Amino acid sequence: MTVKSYIRGVGSYLPPRVLTNAQLAETVDTSDEWIRARTGITQRYIASEGQNTSDLGAAAAQDALAAAGMEASEIDLIICATSTPDLTFPATATIIQEKLGIHHGAAFDVQAVCSGFIYGISVADAMIKAGTGKNVLLIGAETFSRILDWNDRTTCVLFGDGAGAMVLSSTPDKNPEAGDGVLDTEIRSDGRYRDLLYVDGGPSSTQTVGKLRMTGNKVFKRAVKELSSSMVRCAEEAGIAIPDIDWFVPHQANQRILEAVAKRLDLRRGQVVSTVAYHANTSAASIPLAMDTAIKDGRIKRGHTVMLEAFGGGFTWGSALLSY
Ligand code: ACO
Repeated sequence: MTVKSYIRGVGSYLPPRVLTNAQLAETVDTSDEWIRARTGITQRYIASEGQNTSDLGAAAAQDALAAAGMEASEIDLIICATSTPDLTFPATATIIQEKLGIHHGAAFDVQAVCSGFIYGISVADAMIKAGTGKNVLLIGAETFSRILDWNDRTTCVLFGDGAGAMVLSSTPDKNPEAGDGVLDTEIRSDGRYRDLLYVDGGPSSTQTVGKLRMTGNKVFKRAVKELSSSMVRCAEEAGIAIPDIDWFVPHQANQRILEAVAKRLDLRRGQVVSTVAYHANTSAASIPLAMDTAIKDGRIKRGHTVMLEAFGGGFTWGSALLSY
């Protein structure tokens, strides 16, 4: 019998503090009008002092477990996608494992910046199909506020903190309307572009954490091109036509990127889930945060096909087609 990776539950968590564009404009040379017009962002959430990536990730994991109707003890593999780990090591996934009271199985991080959740789905799917994990908790969790240069208006207005999670399992959901899970994934990277989006510190090179640096307009152009072709390949591989896909849940970087990709693929109005206005760019957390929003508000229903896509530092990019 073919093993599948069924989606058992999705969850998310946002820290309590909201930082609006107007509040940001009090300390940085920017304006609400500029940020809205260029990015679609109106606000972002910021983790409280002492609240770490693992705290956000553990809260999102508990929400996903509740949605799946599963206990933490049933999880045998935890994968955390993050570029803002609590510590250089151990992996944030092991800290979340301890916070959830799980003392068996394995836990590790994946680092593909904003594409981390797509990389995580690809790894989780492969490990379930290989029989290495039965119930996988995949988390995307970030505290990007901690690696921003708050004096650099070209980057600090774009990002926020948050976490999302998904439980993938080799056992189907009890709901008879639930879909077939992961249909196809594609992950890609090209290290020639690493200088266009990076953090200027690290344990080996500078012995510091560093701050995020980005050449935004070059990232923009490449993202639109690569994302469109990745989704076309992913849908073709799964044998599903783009117009037959119910929902597109992109990495939430910028409303203009979302619209440019939607135009290239001729997507219908309202087919694309967008939360960038409220969450800003939460890197590896943005896809599960957006997907959970659309599940909780009733748009994404059991049995719907959902295309996820992301682009990030490296460059890394990819897509995942799911039957939820
Ligand atoms: N407020 C006011 N003015 C600003 C701000 C700001 N926050 N930021 C830049 N400007 C100014 C610039 O200084 C420049 O001024 P100048 O013309 O006098 O030199 C002007 O606005 C235009 O700057 P551009 O960088 O050309 O503006 P652009 O239209 O490209 O928008 C943006 C910038 C929003 C960053 C855009 O390029 C973008 O979204 N790029 C994609 C970045 C992205 O999404 N990265 C994340 C993907 S990967 C990941 O998620 C990690």
